[in-house]
Amino acid sequence: MPAELTVWLDCDPGFDDWLAMLLLKQCRFARWVGMSVVAGNAPLEVTLDNTLRICELHGWSVPVHAGSAQPLQGAQETAQNILGGQGMRTSGAKLPPTTRRATSRDAASALLAQIQSSDEPLVILATGPLTNLADAIARDRLTMGRVREIVLMGGSIDRGNHTPAAEFNVFADPLAAAQVFASGIPLRMFGLNLCRQLLLTREHVGAVQALPGQIAGCVAGYLDAYQRIRSVDGREPMPLYDPAVVLWLARPELFEFQATPVDIELQGQFTRGMTVCDLRNRTGRPCNVQIAMKASADEAMQAFMRLLLQALEPAN
Ligand code: BDR
Ligand code: CA
Repeated sequence: MPAELTVWLDCDPGFDDWLAMLLLKQCRFARWVGMSVVAGNAPLEVTLDNTLRICELHGWSVPVHAGSAQPLQGAQETAQNILGGQGMRTSGAKLPPTTRRATSRDAASALLAQIQSSDEPLVILATGPLTNLADAIARDRLTMGRVREIVLMGGSIDRGNHTPAAEFNVFADPLAAAQVFASGIPLRMFGLNLCRQLLLTREHVGAVQALPGQIAGCVAGYLDAYQRIRSVDGREPMPLYDPAVVLWLARPELFEFQATPVDIELQGQFTRGMTVCDLRNRTGRPCNVQIAMKASADEAMQAFMRLLLQALEPAN
């Protein structure tokens, strides 16, 4: 990898999108130039409000662009039934309100302008439904073709989470995912199969809860509630989803990949939004995706905690 990477984050916060941001801030070689927000965990106005509140809390000045409020096709799907109305919940103090506004309401144009103005090819980290990226591809395929790589959290080589077959980010906008997966842009996929190897426990939460200060306290309350998604008492470890893409950026040697042809199921009565991964390449087609298959999980979780605790040091 080059000494410095220019990075764009497309996201739908969501507590784990927030964790990805905190880690990204600590990647000294990543120049984080912008962020686009999409409807996903909650409707767009909620994910946008969450993003602006997060920026306010941490004093970040990275530009925030509002993107798509609806999927390309079909009804809007959120994760509010599991995560609550805000798309994330806390056992402590809520994110304070902000008067900040989005830098623009046209994420696809902002992303395209960023690519056109950069000397270095952009790495896009995508941690929500892929609607904004599909929008940018539809508007200017040539410019999007200059992207170095899209590194996404989404999909799965086996079971889903939002439905038995589909992972949430892909299920929320399968047509957008299909267009991104067929775009020819290099893709790196961190699906559920990988994220289920990165397990957040009570011990990890305890280490954040022990930190002093209002900012760390606020993050700790959300992290605590996130860790309890699977079991109210927190005994069952909770997979880390969105931070996986940033962990790869920070420590690529901790992950193993398999080049694979991947299709998105758009029709299936029970399988809509499924990432159909031809791991044995039965179709003999070109591989469009590098799928993350295996993580050195202990080291990856140590790296996660190191970056998170660093991000929450008072000087940051
Ligand atoms: C993905 O769905 C969202 O709820 C999370 O933020 C993550 O991006 C996991 O399936
Ligand atoms: Ca997300």
